[in-house]
Amino acid sequence: MSDPPRKTVSHRTSGGWLDGIKTLRRRAHGTTEFFERLHREHGDVADYRVFGNRFSVVFEPALMEEALMKKHGCFYKGAQQKKATETLSIVTADGDDHKWRRDLVQPSFTPSALEGYSNAMIEETVRRSEAISDGQVFDLDHMCHDLSLSIAARTFFGDDLAVDPEVIRGSLDGYRRMATMGLLPASRFIKRLPLRKTVTARQAIRALDEQVLEAIRLARAGAGARSDLVAHLVQAWDEGHPRGGFSEQELVDEVFAILIAAHESTAVTLTWCFYHLSNNPAARERLEAEVDERLGGRAPEFADIQHLAFTSAVIDESMRVTPPVAYLGRTAVEDVELGCHHIPKGTTAQLSLRTPMRKEEYFQEPERFIPERWLEQRRDLPRMAFAPFGTGNRFCSGFRFATMEMVLVLAIMAQRWRFDVVSPGFPPVVDFIMYKVSEGLEVRARVRSS
Ligand code: HEM
Repeated sequence: MSDPPRKTVSHRTSGGWLDGIKTLRRRAHGTTEFFERLHREHGDVADYRVFGNRFSVVFEPALMEEALMKKHGCFYKGAQQKKATETLSIVTADGDDHKWRRDLVQPSFTPSALEGYSNAMIEETVRRSEAISDGQVFDLDHMCHDLSLSIAARTFFGDDLAVDPEVIRGSLDGYRRMATMGLLPASRFIKRLPLRKTVTARQAIRALDEQVLEAIRLARAGAGARSDLVAHLVQAWDEGHPRGGFSEQELVDEVFAILIAAHESTAVTLTWCFYHLSNNPAARERLEAEVDERLGGRAPEFADIQHLAFTSAVIDESMRVTPPVAYLGRTAVEDVELGCHHIPKGTTAQLSLRTPMRKEEYFQEPERFIPERWLEQRRDLPRMAFAPFGTGNRFCSGFRFATMEMVLVLAIMAQRWRFDVVSPGFPPVVDFIMYKVSEGLEVRARVRSS
């Protein structure tokens, strides 16, 4: 049961140009700092404007839940992302179209589908672990991104296609460039100019499209014998829907959207996990003990994942202390009341996932990294007090995929390695959309002594 909404206090800026520039400058310093200040000064909901655009930041879990569950139909999500990508997908579609896409995508993440992905995750991680040498100093954030890409290359496209992770990286970089342009005024026009940056971005995106088309061709020829994610999407069919399954272009767009949703969030979370383990030797030792006891030196298998409870708790606690997704954005399609707060039509609601995760009210000693807190059953926690994967009809489709990947990577690395962060103190972060280290994370690898 969630708490009843408390009285909300709202704050409105004048919306003038000067105000807009000031707000933008504060916002550019970082979402976390900006939101924390708004929360301190204005309570459970704070409104601000930038150049005529209205925003309401929601900090109270019961109000976030109201927006995402009871009143989700009053909001849409996709407009901003659709403007950036110019394509429809599970991530950008809304309403019935979103539901149809989601129904087709979810079977790619059933337990049997996940088991099919687990081998590639294990093999890629073991390969990466074997390439590290004792005493080596390296950028662990870079390694987590590389590893997550090579896992995506195999789980999404299958082993025989051997998609080069660099093709995926190039395509995602190209997408980010185009997405940033998509936010500029007259972006449609600018994106079509033959500028060197747009031409190379489009070429990189097209290179991946060709691989997706090839994976679709293989899936159709294999008629159900393949277990990669593209093959699952090719087979997905909604009997009761006039559109049935995805067309070829829809498949290309979906695969791309899922890759974007999957890759960075998992890599960023893994980096934070290793960071916290380095700073909390007792937790690291307990994780090693769990892994040794369960695996006894052999490589993990799919069936082991559910038995690595402390490893999972480390991931949850890392996502609580340093949540990779700081907030969710929704636009009100009509006037909405959240608690006693009025959100006018057209306002962008920003639901600050991070705020309740760091509150004494929900978590004792919230600043401390204590994985053990997740080993107890917590029945009293409001749904949105800890929701790193969102909730409701847009709850992360790849939640189980991500959790499996992270548990396997932590377990395999912990069997052999300790990674000690080289620079003391909290690393510099960037948090405009995702909360992540901004200058890599240098670590020294040490072989475990026992
Ligand atoms: C630690 C890793 C991850 C985190 C923290 C994360 C977080 C989230 C969150 C918060 C949402 C909801 C967004 C919203 O409501 O606006 C979301 C949606 C989504 N995620 Fe994840 N995600 C992760 C990994 C993955 C992976 C590995 C995949 C796929 C393999 C994936 C696929 C998706 C998709 C397709 C959606 C859109 C769902 C919809 O709109 O119906 N995510 N994710």
